[in-house]
Amino acid sequence: MTSYASRRAKLMAQMQAMGGGVAIIPTAPEQVRNADSNFPFRFDSNFYYLTGFTEPESMLVLKIGASGSGQAVLFCREKNVELEIWDGFRYGPADACASFGFDNAHPIGEADKHMPDLIADAKHLFYSFSNANIKRPLELKLQTWCDQLRANWRSGLWVPEQAMDVDAMLAEMRLFKDAEESQLMLRAAQISSRAHARAMRATRPGMQEYEIEAELLYEFRKSGAQAPAYTPIVAAGANACILHYINNNATIQDGDIILIDAGCEVDGYAADITRSYPANGRFSGPQKELYELVLASQLAALHHAKVGQAYMQGHDAAVRVLAQGMLDLKLLDSNKVGALEDVIEKKAFRKFYMHGTGHWLGLDVHDAGQYRQAPAEAQQERAWRPLEAGMVITIEPGLYVRPSEGVPEQFWDIGIRIEDDILISAEGPQILSADAPKTVAEIEYLMQQSR
Ligand code: GLY
Ligand code: MN
Ligand code: MN
Repeated sequence: MTSYASRRAKLMAQMQAMGGGVAIIPTAPEQVRNADSNFPFRFDSNFYYLTGFTEPESMLVLKIGASGSGQAVLFCREKNVELEIWDGFRYGPADACASFGFDNAHPIGEADKHMPDLIADAKHLFYSFSNANIKRPLELKLQTWCDQLRANWRSGLWVPEQAMDVDAMLAEMRLFKDAEESQLMLRAAQISSRAHARAMRATRPGMQEYEIEAELLYEFRKSGAQAPAYTPIVAAGANACILHYINNNATIQDGDIILIDAGCEVDGYAADITRSYPANGRFSGPQKELYELVLASQLAALHHAKVGQAYMQGHDAAVRVLAQGMLDLKLLDSNKVGALEDVIEKKAFRKFYMHGTGHWLGLDVHDAGQYRQAPAEAQQERAWRPLEAGMVITIEPGLYVRPSEGVPEQFWDIGIRIEDDILISAEGPQILSADAPKTVAEIEYLMQQSR
């Protein structure tokens, strides 16, 4: 059985345990860029997770009753000799069915013909609650298909009465990476780490941020990654304090710190890595002080990247180190904000550290999955879930110092983030992005070598 087939079987087993039903999982819609040009197609992560099928205009249907075995049906584009000359190969239902191991396949254009039969007698319908681009058009279709069944109610057909969120079920599965997925994520992280090192070597004051972006993209594609996993951030100087800066069009000045947040996607799986380094290859005194502080906070969080530790412990540890550092470096005035515990409790650290310390990572860069345990009793505060083997998280503390009265001027306009990708395992954290230079010594050595 392929891993895709075993994931389908696992999902259907859960559906069966709930009394059975039909899951309908379309891939992503194609997106117009402008006029008659589309963005490069990126499949829906859930659809891909269950099929490995990368063509647009496809839909997976899984049907299983309260007992017995289920069936997996693919809807996809038909073969079309004329269009394949223009746009390239398509499997067509018969070939896709055989090559990808479905029980049946139909042309996507015949969905309206087959779907009422497929959903008849289903106890539940399972479909996306979280992706409006998928949910909205699908619900319109479901209305039509269910109405067709209702027209035949008197013949004794059962029309589904309950909808369940298939995204939630798949999120829980996707949270735990199997060996194949971990391997792909390691490859994505290794390529991305090389890209970061390449960017550091290539950087010279006077260059444009986009020239460094080009080095990243070159390394991604040259190494076989299909695409960046998200738009790269290449932010020099004050731009590093803009958290979602993607213009990447400013001139790099001598004395700038450059913050790069960039990762590639390999066979659907993302890397998400941030490094911050001096444009001229040497950290200044104040830059080094802030950098060492962020690095210390990252190592503190990393210490909690272990099986059994609650998800939020890493963040809390990073915040504690950063907050103490803010007091020590006089970024925060203890006469105004109080001591460490006050800074933490009143969240005064958010002036310089305003985001979380990480997230799940996988097919999506901010990957699917709940962060807290399921509700037990209505009023009870739900605990952060413990880390388990097979989860992949990022750890990405930072400091962003905007010019502001009372803040020592030598730190103004410095933005630093250090982000690694970590596979949680029984043997301890496996840092997938370990090849990207991280200590002051590693970064300065690499940059001096290339000058
Ligand atoms: N690159 C997005 C993030 O770091 O969360
Ligand atoms: Mn991230
Ligand atoms: Mn990132």
